[in-house]
Amino acid sequence: MTEKPVVLVTGGAGYIGSHCVLALQSAGFPVVVLDNLVYGHREFVEGLEAVTCVWGDISDRALVDQVLSQFQVGAVMHFAAYAYVGESVGNPAKYYRNNVVGTLTLLEAMLAAQVPYLVFSSTCATYGIPQQVPISEDHPQHPINPYGMSKLMVEQMLTDFDQAYGLRSVRFRYFNAAGADPLGRVGEDHQPETHLIPLVLLTALGQREDITIFGTDYDTPDGTCIRDYIHVTDLAEAHVLGLNYLLDGGSTNVFNLGNGDGFSVRQIIQAAQEVTQRSINVQFGSRRPGDPAALIGQAQRAQKVLQWKPKYPEIDTILDHAWRWHLQRHRPKDEAQG
Ligand SMILES: NC(=O)c1ccc[n+]([C@@H]2O[C@H](COP(=O)([O-])OP(=O)(O)OC[C@H]3O[C@@H](n4cnc5c(N)ncnc54)[C@H](O)[C@@H]3O)[C@@H](O)[C@H]2O)c1
Repeated sequence: MTEKPVVLVTGGAGYIGSHCVLALQSAGFPVVVLDNLVYGHREFVEGLEAVTCVWGDISDRALVDQVLSQFQVGAVMHFAAYAYVGESVGNPAKYYRNNVVGTLTLLEAMLAAQVPYLVFSSTCATYGIPQQVPISEDHPQHPINPYGMSKLMVEQMLTDFDQAYGLRSVRFRYFNAAGADPLGRVGEDHQPETHLIPLVLLTALGQREDITIFGTDYDTPDGTCIRDYIHVTDLAEAHVLGLNYLLDGGSTNVFNLGNGDGFSVRQIIQAAQEVTQRSINVQFGSRRPGDPAALIGQAQRAQKVLQWKPKYPEIDTILDHAWRWHLQRHRPKDEAQG
C-alpha cells in the first residue's frame, strides 16, 4: 500500500473542516490543521490520533511555509474563510482580504513548497440569482454579494494557477451544509449563527424565543424560500473522494455538492417540530434583499466522476443528527431550571 500524503486542512477547527478532518483520519491520511480560531473550536480536533493542530493564520506566510515544510505536506484542503453574506456587503474589504488575499498567500506558499494539490470550498453563492434550477456547474456565475465574489475570484485564480504552474485543484460548490457527525463528535456551532437549521433547533431548545421567516410571498408552493440541504458528513466524504481523484491523476475540476432536492423554510420548521417533538415559535418578517426563491443544486458530475453518493440524503436524518448534537452541546433551559 502506498503511503498517504499529509494533508493540511485550513479552517479545520470549523464546522465543515472538522468533519473533513474526521473523514480524512478514517481514510488513513495524516492531517495538520491550521486554524486561527476566529470562529473555530479547538476541542473539535485537538487530541485526535494522527492529527496535529497549529493555531495560526493562513495570511502568515512564514508560518504557512514552516508548516508545509515541517510536516512535508502533500495536499491542502482549504476551508479557512469568512462566510457571512450580510457582513460581506457592509465590510467587503474584510472578505477580500481574508478570502482572496489570504488564499493567495496560501497558494504562493504551496507553489514555493511544491505542494501540487488543493481541494477548495467554494459555494453556490457564486451563481447569484439562478436563471434555472436545478443549477448545474455550467450555470453562469454572477455573484450578488462580496462573499460570493471573493469565492469566484479564488476559483479564477485556481484556473490560472493550473494553467501557469500546474497546481491541480478540485473546487466544490456547496449548497447548504447541515447536520452533524452521526457519532456526535462534532457539529455546527457558528457564533453568530445565521443558518436556518441550527436557528430552528436552538429555538426548539429554548435558547431563542422564536425563528423569523423572511418572506412568505415567494413564487414557491408555500411562499417561503427553498434551499438544498446537504449532510455535512456527505460533504466530508466528497472531499476525500476529491482528494483521491487528484492523487490518482485527475485534472482540475469543479463539482456541485447538494442533494438535488429542495425544502422550504416552512417545511424545515415542520420537520424539525416532528424530529424534536417540540413546538417552535415562528415570527414573520419581510424578504431579505438578495435571497433567491429557490436554490437547488444538480450534483450528477460528482456522482459520475467521483462516484460520490450521499449516505444521508433524508432531511429527517439531517435534522436528527443536528438535533442530537445540539442537545448535547446546549443543555436545554427547561432542564437546567428543573
Ligand atoms: N456552511 C455552509 O453551508 C457553506 C456553504 C458554502 C461554502 N462554505 C464554505 O465552507 C468553508 C467552511 O465553512 P464553515 O461553515 O465550516 O465555516 P466556519 O466558520 O465554521 O469555518 C471556517 C474556519 O476557518 C477559520 N479561519 C477563518 N479565517 C482564517 C484564517 N485567515 N486563517 C486560519 N483560519 C481561518 C475559522 O476560525 C473557522 O474555524 C468556508 O470557506 C465557507 O465559505 C460553507
